[in-house]
Amino acid sequence: MNTATRFIAVGALLALGVWAIFIVNEDVSVAPPVGKRWGTPPQVKGDKPLLLKSSKQCAECHPAIYNEWKSSHHEFAWLNPEPRRKELSNNFRNKDCIPCHAPRPLLEVGFGERPLERETRREDGVNCFTCHRSGQVVIAANDLGPGAANAPCNPVTWKAIAEVKLCSPCHDQHKVEQDWQRSRYAVKGSAEYKDCNDCHMPVTGGPGTVGGARRTHRGHGFKGGHDEAILRSAGIVRAIRLDNALTLAAAVEKLTGRDWRPAKELNLERGVLIEVKNTGTGHNLPSDERHRAVDLYVRFKPSIGKATEEVRLTRFRNPYRDEYENRNPFKDKPDIVLTNQMSWAESEIPVSQVRLLPDFNPNRKVYYPESTQLHAGESRLLWFEVPDWGRGTLELRLFYKLQPFLSNEDAVQIAETRVAF
Ligand code: HEC
Ligand code: HEC
Ligand code: HEC
Ligand code: HEC
Ligand code: HEC
Repeated sequence: MNTATRFIAVGALLALGVWAIFIVNEDVSVAPPVGKRWGTPPQVKGDKPLLLKSSKQCAECHPAIYNEWKSSHHEFAWLNPEPRRKELSNNFRNKDCIPCHAPRPLLEVGFGERPLERETRREDGVNCFTCHRSGQVVIAANDLGPGAANAPCNPVTWKAIAEVKLCSPCHDQHKVEQDWQRSRYAVKGSAEYKDCNDCHMPVTGGPGTVGGARRTHRGHGFKGGHDEAILRSAGIVRAIRLDNALTLAAAVEKLTGRDWRPAKELNLERGVLIEVKNTGTGHNLPSDERHRAVDLYVRFKPSIGKATEEVRLTRFRNPYRDEYENRNPFKDKPDIVLTNQMSWAESEIPVSQVRLLPDFNPNRKVYYPESTQLHAGESRLLWFEVPDWGRGTLELRLFYKLQPFLSNEDAVQIAETRVAF
């Protein structure tokens, strides 16, 4: 053997060794979970080892679920260019980002604990093993059928997998779970109870296992800020005209069904009252990812001629530390009326706004006092006088933006309404 060949051989052996360590670490001898507060899931199945190594292998028998996951942002978590941006993780050179974007099985540390970083198959992002693997078995919430005994995935039932604590180690960084806990959706036993999975893993047609007993399965698409349909279920905008015949208090009651009275009654001649309400988001809107913003815009389209420019009325957002203009002006006085000047088509118009706290748990704990996100069930009311531009339509549009610098053209319109003048 000459030196060069020896070099290559040693190199190859070394590489093999490293590879073997990864395999051992990742795929064969996964330590049983620490369990901690969440208990230890069963490790039945005799000592039949789990021989499956990659999420791709699950596709053969769980094709519907595999395909849903494949198109989800869980699968995309490692290859997504967004977290890789230079100023963010610098192509994941910032190692702190890896435990959630390419995690090892959660049950190695126990549910509710921060996951560890994975060394193999990082391109699979948050993979099937992350949520399902426990030692030599995969865990599931359902009672299993006869086919389970011979399945290579060694399924066992452990209902804790369906709990919110599965999601929170990664998703509670910005208090999504905490905000959910304080909403009406989290009241166990109530007709309105909905957890993360009820909204993000909806029951979907078709079996989850080829030849499996059930005709439906829990969807694995984990739809959120990148999905128009779920965004359109997040909230509503509605509005009515205000005129001399309608006081503000009466208009509020008519529009929202809520009893709210201003300190001083007020009649506008050619006004509008608008409500933006978080009706379908089980936590703050927008949520989780700090970049998101939801903007309310207005424009007036006269019956004849061109529409006015479209201007922003308000923004719902958890601002970055240096974003002074988006800080919550209500601060610790949630029930005050704020009035600001708005420049709109060469007019200066005073726009007033007030928060209508949720009926349920209105004085809930607020984690980000600087934030203007809408809590679950909360409304924002706005009113102002519309300049006399003759007959026409006032158009109100609510936009969802993946980050605050996007234009309306690059945003998703999630709700809209019109008022005739
Ligand atoms: C060769 C077929 C096959 C492969 C490959 C396979 N499974 Fe399974 N799996 C099954 C069968 C059969 C069941 C039992 C279904 C039942 O009882 O209704 C099952 C059940 C499950 C369950 C519980 C389902 C339930 O109804 O609650 C989970 C979770 C699961 N598998 C995950 C995986 C994962 C993750 C992989 C890939 C690592 C995988 N499976 C690969 C055949 C397979
Ligand atoms: C504790 C777990 C955790 C850690 C650590 C983590 N992330 Fe994330 N990251 C998430 C979750 C969960 C989401 C999804 C949030 C959402 O979509 O609202 C996410 C989403 C993102 C997104 C948005 C992706 C998109 O397409 O909009 C970016 C960007 C991001 N993370 C960057 C980073 C960077 C950079 C780091 C390291 C400095 C990091 N993350 C560390 C959990 C984590
Ligand atoms: C190991 C960490 C981890 C766990 C556990 C986890 N997620 Fe995620 N989730 C992420 C990351 C990381 C992203 C964002 C990836 C990206 O876009 O780069 C994400 C994205 C999402 C998104 C947003 C998709 C989008 O379009 O932006 C939703 C919704 C979601 N997860 C729901 C859940 C739910 C529900 C659970 C519990 C059943 C859960 N996740 C468990 C890490 C995790
Ligand atoms: C973010 C966590 C997460 C990831 C990633 C994930 N699952 Fe699941 N999966 C769950 C949860 C939670 C349930 C149970 C929901 C319930 O029944 O309440 C579940 C249920 C299942 C079931 C039973 C479905 C049914 O309703 O019949 C199968 C099979 C399954 N998963 C397979 C997979 C496969 C295969 C992958 C990868 C392609 C995968 N899962 C990825 C969290 C996850
Ligand atoms: C009542 C339904 C509902 C419940 C319950 C719910 N969500 Fe959501 N979630 C939504 C809607 C609607 C959106 C889209 C609007 C938004 O991003 O705020 C969303 C968005 C998200 C996003 C994506 C945010 C982004 O930036 O892309 C994540 C992550 C998420 N939810 C996680 C969770 C977790 C974790 C739980 C449980 C603690 C949960 N959700 C409970 C309805 C719900």
